Amino acid sequence: MGKSVTPAGFSIGGWCGINPGGDPFGEAVRNIGTDEFLDVLGKTAIKRVSFHDRDLWPDDAAPGLVTEVIGHTKQHCSKAGLEIYNFTSNNFSNPCFRSGAFSSPFPQVRAAAIVKGCNAVDHANEFGAKHVIWWGGREGSDGAYEQDPGLGLARYMQGLKICVRYGVEKGYKLIHTVEPKVYEPRLLALYAGTGASAASAIRHHFSEPAFAGKVLVNPEYPQHVMMLNLDPVFELGQLMEEGMLAPFIHFGGQIAGRMDCDLPPGFGSNVYTDFMIVLTLNRRGWKGVVEFDCRPPRTTTSVQGLSGFLNAAVGYWRMLEDKVAAYFADAKIAELEGALMAAEDSTVGGLLTASSVTKGVGQLRANFKGFAAAAEVNTDVIEAYQRRVMSIITGTAK
Ligand code: GLC
Ligand code: MN
Repeated sequence: MGKSVTPAGFSIGGWCGINPGGDPFGEAVRNIGTDEFLDVLGKTAIKRVSFHDRDLWPDDAAPGLVTEVIGHTKQHCSKAGLEIYNFTSNNFSNPCFRSGAFSSPFPQVRAAAIVKGCNAVDHANEFGAKHVIWWGGREGSDGAYEQDPGLGLARYMQGLKICVRYGVEKGYKLIHTVEPKVYEPRLLALYAGTGASAASAIRHHFSEPAFAGKVLVNPEYPQHVMMLNLDPVFELGQLMEEGMLAPFIHFGGQIAGRMDCDLPPGFGSNVYTDFMIVLTLNRRGWKGVVEFDCRPPRTTTSVQGLSGFLNAAVGYWRMLEDKVAAYFADAKIAELEGALMAAEDSTVGGLLTASSVTKGVGQLRANFKGFAAAAEVNTDVIEAYQRRVMSIITGTAK
């Protein structure tokens, strides 16, 4: 059981820092350019930054401009002490993607998505990025179910596979990550759920050994899960158990059941859930990067405000880490964990490895003392566990 409580470091989406704070009903409230943002970022503990292509140049930019911007951005990042961590193709803003991108029913749109995606793979390599994120914001429908949904998903995965294979053929050392979200901007996304269903689609469509470990899931917690009133902790557990979690997660704040809020970490959140995310990562010795994908609220308009937001985002994660360290150091927790996570005993533990399950089950039956006896197990320990965790989180543990 790993007890490290520090991630490999922090990152942030460049799109978060330069977000002008407009919404469908209101105008921009901030005007912070990329260079200015990078300068502010360089003074914080967040030493990595990620970009969409479209954050840096227009979709139809001439190759000369792209080369120039790449050079300038790399230079500015290194001057500010920042590493470019992830790169991603924005396959959702351009009006050509209004019917979907990789999954669009229209071949010329699918072609556009593949061209843009492969360009992004090249640019990720040029930037020295570690991962290419694939967030399929437009891969879905607005309620018409205009194509067979299985075909839509297959097209989505086929487009992605072409881009992944393109990078492999070019010899790039890139990991690809699928970022799931069930709705918004399309009202229905092609995944039937969040991380677990994305993982299942990846496993099915990338089953060849050449893709092993090359296409993973980067979840966004708690936003992309809690916007559906689903639970990020169990999803995280599944992704880790199945080896499908990317070396980074997106993190921010979310009011459960609302559209994607991307609030500062801690805003609107359930601190018990946030704590459990950090605990779950640490229990399994996760050494990934926490990439903030959130922004200051619309009421924050200044560069000082942006700087406060960045420091507070790190501060919230570090606070959770401190609580996790206190959890691991707590004798009462160790005792409760002993009761709740005891290793499998020989009665059940050996059943699947035994030569005959039938024989093993026969043994179990022979030794079985009845359901009333099984009900005598002391389950009060579960509430005691919750109370102890809560007292650690709130700093009231005695
Ligand atoms: C968009 C999404 C964000 C995602 C990013 C990368 O900005 O809102 O959640 O991580 O694209 O593709
Ligand atoms: Mn995200």
